[in-house]
Amino acid sequence: MGFHKYWSLLLVSSLLTVCNASKSNFSPQRYHVGTNPSISTEALRRGQSITLSPEESPLLTLDYGSEVAGFPYFQVSQVDGPVQLEVKYTEQFDGLNHVWADGPYYMASGLSNTFRVETFNITGPGKIKSYFIQGGQRWQSIKLLTKGHITFKEFGFIPTIDHVDLDDLPSTFNSSNPKYNAIWKLGANAVTAACFDANSQTSTWDITADGAYIRGQKPAISAAGNSFSDYTLSFSSKIVRGGTGWSISQPLIGEGILLLLVSNLPNATSFVNTNRTLTPPNSIVVASGWGFVNQTTLDSQAVGSFPIPFEIQEEKWYDISTTLLNGSQLSVTIQGSQVLNISLADYGVSDQSAGSWGFGPYQDQIALVRNVNVHAKNGTLLYHNDMEHSDVLSEYGVQPNTKAVCLDGAKRDRLVWMGDFFHTSRIIPVSTSRWDHVRGTLDYLLETQISTGQLNIAPQIGYNPSSLKSIPTFYDGLEDYQVLGLLAFTGYFQRSGDIDWVRGVWPSFKKQISWMINQIDKETRLVGLGGFIGDANGTAISAAVVQSLKEAATVADALQDSNSAKKYRKIAGEVSKAINARLWNPETSVYSHSISSNTSYGVLDIAFAITSGVANGKRATASLTKLASLKLAPGYKDISTTSDSSADISPNTNGFLLGAAMVANDTSTAKYLLDNLWGAMLNDRYASGASWEYVGQNLSPGLSLFTSLSHPWGGAATYVLTEHIAGIRPATPGYKSWLIQPAVEGFGLDWASAKVMTRYGPLSVKWEVMDKKVHLNVTAPQGTSGKIQLPIGYKTKTVTVDGIATSEKNEVFLKSGTSIVTFQLS
Ligand SMILES: *[C@@H]1O[C@H](CO)[C@@H](O)[C@H](O)[C@H]1NC(C)=O
Ligand SMILES: *[C@@H]1O[C@H](CO)[C@@H](O)[C@H](O)[C@H]1NC(C)=O
Ligand SMILES: *[C@@H]1O[C@H](CO)[C@@H](O)[C@H](O)[C@H]1NC(C)=O
Ligand SMILES: *[C@@H]1O[C@H](CO)[C@@H](O)[C@H](O)[C@H]1NC(C)=O
Ligand SMILES: *[C@@H]1O[C@H](CO)[C@@H](O)[C@H](O)[C@H]1NC(C)=O
Ligand SMILES: *[C@@H]1O[C@H](CO)[C@@H](O)[C@H](O)[C@H]1NC(C)=O
Ligand SMILES: *[C@@H]1O[C@H](CO)[C@@H](O)[C@H](O)[C@H]1NC(C)=O
Ligand SMILES: *[C@@H]1O[C@H](CO)[C@@H](O)[C@H](O)[C@H]1NC(C)=O
Ligand SMILES: *[C@@H]1O[C@H](CO)[C@@H](O)[C@H](O)[C@H]1NC(C)=O
Ligand SMILES: *[C@@H]1O[C@H](CO)[C@@H](O)[C@H](O)[C@H]1NC(C)=O
Ligand SMILES: *[C@@H]1O[C@H](CO)[C@@H](O)[C@H](O)[C@H]1NC(C)=O
Ligand SMILES: *[C@@H]1O[C@H](CO)[C@@H](O)[C@H](O)[C@H]1NC(C)=O
Repeated sequence: MGFHKYWSLLLVSSLLTVCNASKSNFSPQRYHVGTNPSISTEALRRGQSITLSPEESPLLTLDYGSEVAGFPYFQVSQVDGPVQLEVKYTEQFDGLNHVWADGPYYMASGLSNTFRVETFNITGPGKIKSYFIQGGQRWQSIKLLTKGHITFKEFGFIPTIDHVDLDDLPSTFNSSNPKYNAIWKLGANAVTAACFDANSQTSTWDITADGAYIRGQKPAISAAGNSFSDYTLSFSSKIVRGGTGWSISQPLIGEGILLLLVSNLPNATSFVNTNRTLTPPNSIVVASGWGFVNQTTLDSQAVGSFPIPFEIQEEKWYDISTTLLNGSQLSVTIQGSQVLNISLADYGVSDQSAGSWGFGPYQDQIALVRNVNVHAKNGTLLYHNDMEHSDVLSEYGVQPNTKAVCLDGAKRDRLVWMGDFFHTSRIIPVSTSRWDHVRGTLDYLLETQISTGQLNIAPQIGYNPSSLKSIPTFYDGLEDYQVLGLLAFTGYFQRSGDIDWVRGVWPSFKKQISWMINQIDKETRLVGLGGFIGDANGTAISAAVVQSLKEAATVADALQDSNSAKKYRKIAGEVSKAINARLWNPETSVYSHSISSNTSYGVLDIAFAITSGVANGKRATASLTKLASLKLAPGYKDISTTSDSSADISPNTNGFLLGAAMVANDTSTAKYLLDNLWGAMLNDRYASGASWEYVGQNLSPGLSLFTSLSHPWGGAATYVLTEHIAGIRPATPGYKSWLIQPAVEGFGLDWASAKVMTRYGPLSVKWEVMDKKVHLNVTAPQGTSGKIQLPIGYKTKTVTVDGIATSEKNEVFLKSGTSIVTFQLS
């Protein structure tokens, strides 16, 4: 029985705990009953009954205390009805005051409800469960829309993520500063909400003998027609409630032409909150863009609603056909008669390029769709699907997730954004320790690998990954996400030492590395690709490549692939030298943003120059000094050329900086970021308990209601607290040898402790500073050893290990087991 087996046992027991926990539902902790949503709530007792009635108490506000996810449900004990209920979900409280709460989310079909508002018709007591998962929220409201009374005895969410106790995760952090303890939980909560097991996210379509039964959602798009243009889409649809919806000229992610056919809205099936302005009865509604309403960065352009000259009945099949020609001429026939023929250009809609089609009605609507045909302009049949077989689900991107994966955010975009995974993959090993979530995500990304070696930068979880390979936009955009994905892999290996899995995927990552190496200019030895972290031929990307090659060399070492190790180190050295020669600007004393922009610089140029080891101590310190000109409240703007007034502060980019500041011993920058940028996320008016996507300069969420408040990309503080403040880091893969560098100075802490679940067992430290002494209690598992290192410049008089004086000074070497170490400072 080797270490591997020992680890399996540990993993099994930690998973068991998680699974036990995940059975219990998420319950609200506080509530308010009144006429409007209220943030002033009172404690909700378990089993407490709540009654809503039309005049003085129609609206219930529920606060779950922090981010939760799952199927909404409620238990009705009594109803004098039928009554209709409008239920809203939102991460920040203010969403409850808006018609669409904090949605809708038309970015992608993320195997969750597109809408953040849904309506129920309650006819009797019992348990009511929503069909759709709500991906992430802290707040909920339930509004009685009609006459009658209703009494609930329970509410909550049936979890579709692990229901964990953040105080009792496999890996932990604690300190004398409660604010830092809350900040540590932000990342832990975000990875808990945004990562989940295979098959945990259910399909949003039902396939029946009558075709696909589709409830209101963003149209889910066929992967079969991405390159089609000038076609006629025809299908049959039966409206079950409200209307049926579809899209054409629709890329898998992006803007398209959206259509709704609205029924005559009979009273028997229409909810009283049906928006008859947006969806008038007997009409075709057309919009161009992301959805039917604007949602921050997801723009929509209303083309109009066009009356149908006859009644559109529910429970009746209609043959619908839609043609888009020449990127603009849109026509629709119903039962063979033309009901629409417009030039989109006349409505100010720009030319539509090629794109597929999809199906999805509007909020609270339901329709069946069957017998789908697509004909080319010349009459050739290009596509046929009766929509009666379960393979429809994977084609339209609505099959349950096949792998454990981590999304960019719990509520949106709900894509496996590869670049975002850098921080996610570092938070998991110090908190939930769900290595299977890291592996699942990387395995999923690898399934999308194309012959060039590139991986899809943002696969949607409902498609078969291989069906995404033919869609160039997901490979050409944000090319530097390839590098961040590679760093997620190498960083995971350093923390896990998961050698068996790594051996299996190594050939695929080597292909990706070869692609990356090909982007290095033969002459200049700088990296010619750009994207998110900076410009081509710039410091950030070139240094990130250096860092990834050095880390990949460590993986190669572990696999005895010495040729690769040698090659990667050689190239890393060349690029490093080129950055110092061409991108260090001695006049500005900072690394430049790129060779074509040598007076500008940014957070990531500085951060990657440091973490990659490209910058020597002097250049690191000089660069960090330049941060002064990027400093805003509550963090640093990305680049010197952005205007201060428009800058949102990114906890993602500032997260790289936070790590870099600690590497360069700049505790004041790190403390500024922790106290202010991460501190802002604790403001109860907006807080979700998880890390945010963006923070505005006024300390509110940076993209208003749209902002994901459970975005692991903004959670770097979690691993920086464990790895640099409690101070436990792996020195070799899997913590076989470890390094403890307690941040005994710079953060005003009296003590800090952390435990990391390693493949050998738990490794923990608790340090305490008092009376010119630093006490440490280190417990290290069998098979490991390491050292404690106090900050340079610390003068120690004596050092004892388990009470026995040693000759060591600022560094003490330790074996496995528990060691009590005391540094007496002079
Ligand atoms: C953190 O430490 C304090 C003081 O020892 C203790 O009361 C608290 O329970 C600890 N928190 C966790 C989550 O272990
Ligand atoms: C439908 O309900 C509205 C009010 O809710 C009422 O005015 C109307 O007469 C009803 N229509 C029918 C056909 O019952
Ligand atoms: C609600 O259910 C009742 C009882 O089945 C039914 O009569 C009514 O038409 C339903 N209302 C809606 C809007 O579906
Ligand atoms: C109805 O939709 C219109 C947009 O068409 C919007 O302005 C309005 O706020 C919506 N009203 C409600 C109550 O949803
Ligand atoms: C969305 O906002 C744009 C810009 O303000 C506006 O032109 C457009 O009409 C809006 N779309 C809808 C559907 O309201
Ligand atoms: C196609 O669209 C272009 C503008 O994009 C226009 O010049 C041309 O006349 C259109 N052709 C037809 C056949 O409508
Ligand atoms: C739609 O209108 C255009 C322009 O008026 C016309 O050329 C075309 O034939 C019409 N299409 C159909 C299907 O009637
Ligand atoms: C009809 O159009 C399709 C798609 O553009 C094309 O593949 C096919 O060759 C065409 N057929 C004829 C007979 O022109
Ligand atoms: C990067 O630099 C090389 C060499 O100067 C140049 O050929 C290439 O066009 C540059 N790439 C970009 C995207 O500017
Ligand atoms: C910065 O770029 C300008 C114009 O390309 C060049 O003249 C100057 O020498 C460069 N400065 C440094 C320090 O590289
Ligand atoms: C930071 O401190 C470590 C030792 O604690 C030292 O090795 C390193 O050189 C320092 N870095 C800088 C940039 O001063
Ligand atoms: C040191 O830490 C270990 C593990 O957390 C604990 O069992 C032990 O009691 C601690 N010893 C002292 C002296 O604090």
